[in-house]
Amino acid sequence: MIFKYNSDLINGPVKPATVIFLTEGPNSLKDRPELASFRLTVQQLLATGSFKGKYLETLPLFFPDHDNWLILVGLGEYEKLSPPRVMEAGATSTQVLTSLALREAFIAIPSLPKFPATQTMELTVQGARLGAEARYNFKTQADQPTNTLRVLTFWNADYLSSIAKPKVVISRAQMAAEAQIQARRLADLPANHLDPTAMAEMAVNLAGRLKLPVTVWDENQLEAEGAGGLLAVGQGSARPPRMVILEYPGGGRGAKTVALVGKGVTFDSGGLCLKPADGMAQMKTDMSGAAAVLSVMEAVYNLKIPHKVIGLMPLAENMPSHKAYRPGDIITTLSGQTVEIVNTDAEGRLILADALTLAQRFQPDYIIDIATLTGACQVALGERCAGLFTDDEPLRNAILRAGQLVGENYWPLPLLNEYEEELKSELADFKQAAGRPGGAIMAALFLRRFIKPNVSWAHLDIAGTARKNHKSPSGPEGASGFGVVTLLKFLCTI
Ligand code: BES
Ligand code: MN
Ligand code: ZN
Repeated sequence: MIFKYNSDLINGPVKPATVIFLTEGPNSLKDRPELASFRLTVQQLLATGSFKGKYLETLPLFFPDHDNWLILVGLGEYEKLSPPRVMEAGATSTQVLTSLALREAFIAIPSLPKFPATQTMELTVQGARLGAEARYNFKTQADQPTNTLRVLTFWNADYLSSIAKPKVVISRAQMAAEAQIQARRLADLPANHLDPTAMAEMAVNLAGRLKLPVTVWDENQLEAEGAGGLLAVGQGSARPPRMVILEYPGGGRGAKTVALVGKGVTFDSGGLCLKPADGMAQMKTDMSGAAAVLSVMEAVYNLKIPHKVIGLMPLAENMPSHKAYRPGDIITTLSGQTVEIVNTDAEGRLILADALTLAQRFQPDYIIDIATLTGACQVALGERCAGLFTDDEPLRNAILRAGQLVGENYWPLPLLNEYEEELKSELADFKQAAGRPGGAIMAALFLRRFIKPNVSWAHLDIAGTARKNHKSPSGPEGASGFGVVTLLKFLCTI
């Protein structure tokens, strides 16, 4: 799909389709110079109540005289307008265009004084790309989705005049959305199609294609290195664990080193502490963190991010078997610290522990891990907001800001020192988990045990957000690709 920018379009294009966005209420046309040539039409539609501008309301109109479509998309009330809403409206536009089987369209970036023009443009473009994506499936016949949409041209010379390089903004936003789609595709793959070895192979193929250095530790290497956390989690499965280290050497003056660590449990049955059958199928997306990291690494390369980025993916399948690790086991992690296993379903923190230890060997300025870590976080923040844990305030603010810009919600949760004692063990350096209270915090505190003093680290718990449980214009039910665009925005702003 080709995304273009036209700086000459002032009164709007004609053929074959134009998309405009309208807010609800009496001020729909106020301060919207891009709508000048549609003013009469829009006024009539509003006056008759044929179109109200309600959030995600759509009205496709065909003008036979001009052989042109005008597609109205509602933004809802201006006061309620948020980055996710702008993004979903953008997605709605391409959903309508696709349903009309159109090949080409002109999308008017809405003049919204509430947001910087760059942000509105990015959100609209991202949404437009996501909305045009049909979900990959395994059906053998007929039902394979097709998309006719080929060229999208974005315009609104007036509003966008402050942007120095609109074409660059568009292509960056498009690439970010592409990476998010890639992460969704990966995370949606069933566990019998994507096991640790297969995912490691994907990373190796990507590295080969981009000529980036990549290292994969197989079970022998993991043993030799002493990565006891990852080995313990993986030992119950017939599909052996892997640790992937993918490096993007980009840099230059003032370049930072950022390590991204993604939880890659290709299937989380819970192990011997087996999960109930209800919802277990969803645990094929327990590698959403690793999928995000892998997709971000590709985008980092495409976007020529001026920093060194290390992508670490600990990959394992958590299964019960005669070889599985057990509650009561005491393991030695890559850090040398010993851990008393309490619950084999708290596997994510164990594989992350080893990856975080490894990450620090690269002396990164920042480490960010992203993981579908705790049901407790899902319960606390719901499915549209991820948990953010860090002791580094500037890093916290940078991540919050990045999330806000791209329309992903994060909320800070505390790394409370008072809870540290819950992890005390009689037999090992500490326990793997405590009781149910504060489950998301306890997991984060466990991870912090593997971070050396003065290392800047943030943990993103995406257990709630990694899956969309309701379809929306930006995507179907299933893996959401959450975190990808925030991480990319973060890397673009440090
Ligand atoms: N992968 C799960 C967390 C999860 C739950 C992700 C729901 C997405 C949706 C994780 O490995 C897990 O099982 N965590 C346990 C930890 C507990 C045993 C301490 C949990 O949250 O129940
Ligand atoms: Mn688990
Ligand atoms: Zn898990």
